[in-house]
Amino acid sequence: MLSKQGKNLNITVLGLGYVGLSTALVLAYLGHQVTGLDIDSSKIEMLKRGTIPLFEPNLETLMSRVQERVVWSSDNHISIPHADFIFLCVQTPVLEGGQSDLTFVEQVVSAIALNLQGRTQIMVNKSTVPVGTGKRIKSLLERKAGRTLADRCQVVANPEFLSEGSALIDSLYPHRMVLGGEIEVLRKMLELYAPIIQQTFEPLDFVVCPSGYTQPEVIETTLESAEMTKYAANAFLALKISYANEMANLCEHVGADILDVMAGVGADRRIGPHFLAAGAGWGGSCLGKDTRALVKLAEVYDCPLPIISAAIAVNYQQRIKVVELLERHLKDLKGKRVALLGLSFKPHTDDLRDSPAHDFIADITNRGGRVIAHDPVAMKRANTEWNHLDYLSANSVEEALQDADACIIATDWPEYVALDWDRVVTSMKSPILIDARNIIRRRLKSPIILEQIGRKVLGEANYPQVKP
Ligand code: UGA
Repeated sequence: MLSKQGKNLNITVLGLGYVGLSTALVLAYLGHQVTGLDIDSSKIEMLKRGTIPLFEPNLETLMSRVQERVVWSSDNHISIPHADFIFLCVQTPVLEGGQSDLTFVEQVVSAIALNLQGRTQIMVNKSTVPVGTGKRIKSLLERKAGRTLADRCQVVANPEFLSEGSALIDSLYPHRMVLGGEIEVLRKMLELYAPIIQQTFEPLDFVVCPSGYTQPEVIETTLESAEMTKYAANAFLALKISYANEMANLCEHVGADILDVMAGVGADRRIGPHFLAAGAGWGGSCLGKDTRALVKLAEVYDCPLPIISAAIAVNYQQRIKVVELLERHLKDLKGKRVALLGLSFKPHTDDLRDSPAHDFIADITNRGGRVIAHDPVAMKRANTEWNHLDYLSANSVEEALQDADACIIATDWPEYVALDWDRVVTSMKSPILIDARNIIRRRLKSPIILEQIGRKVLGEANYPQVKP
């Protein structure tokens, strides 16, 4: 079934979000015949026209290079029965109470069960799922397809660690690969991933290998440990961010600068410099969802996770703090015009899920203010997904800042980092900047009020009198 070179296998990818699309295109690039399935037919139509239905750097370019090896469809029958590998990449949203919603996983497993024909197949789960789901997938298959057919379909847990905005770099140059399952089936996974593990694939001219990168560490383990690794990794990233924010809040009181403090802390190799940027805290579809799901999972076993629970609380408190900083300077937000720069939860994506900007808009309007928002790529998506929020859209940073009483920088887009802030603040009614991502790194010449998170070093000398 498998060629040693990892070529010419039939691969089906179910669920075409960031993870599914990246997986499908990278496997096609490695030479396999890939079918990408999704129940959303509008997404499939877009893909067939050569358009990626989300904003992710370079995915569209890769798609144009591999199109002869990829088929997009909503019809499970066309590929599942012939697939050597079936990748599950569906979303696992969070339920009201914080638990993972496995409806989509169950739906695709049922669809797979209906299409099993006795061929030896490997089902690779990349969706983030509570520990124990791999085993449950196996029993669901048995229930739906019968033991004989289900026994030919082996289950592997292969959590995905890519970040939005760098999906292709993370897929081609991953730091680690975690593979959970029976030893024999893991060997087949190692063959499939050999070009990436050994870094023998032809590099793409538009995806730059991170400097110093050599090859991924491969961790072979059980289904449960692989599933647990995904949650534990995201929880640790969340902890680092909340830790940095907690330290930042104390820095403000004691007159220390969080940037210098975290540079000093992160220079210790045991800690590392990443994910120590204080600011508005984490957003996105993963860290918030996965930390809550982990806490819920632990409750089932009566095993509280106080550190993770505290990290969650610190994160969402940080959003309130940003609006309170604004209010401290404006005194009363009623009728005030607030420019909001950045809607996406982080740069290089138009993903708005759990974005701090969402809560800023809601909080500011609740307090009587008016928001005029700008984002380099996420405005279109916000206009459809944030219908419930009340804000105006600006076509440029300049338009957002014109006559604004204050500005919040919510996302660290490179465009905002590179702005000539001395120039752009001149059109504001009162130059109050709440830099919730600490992107302004040099003292501005203009008289402004600058608030940053965990640092007072740039603002103090420049404080003008705010007109009532
Ligand atoms: C995260 C993990 O980083 C990935 O490894 C994981 O695969 C993914 O979740 C997932 O589970 O699918 P992602 O949600 O794309 O990736 O975004 P991150 O790059 O982790 O950023 C999350 C949030 O934290 C952003 O809002 C970012 O602005 C914020 N952040 C990040 C900070 O506030 N400080 C930092 O130092 C770093």
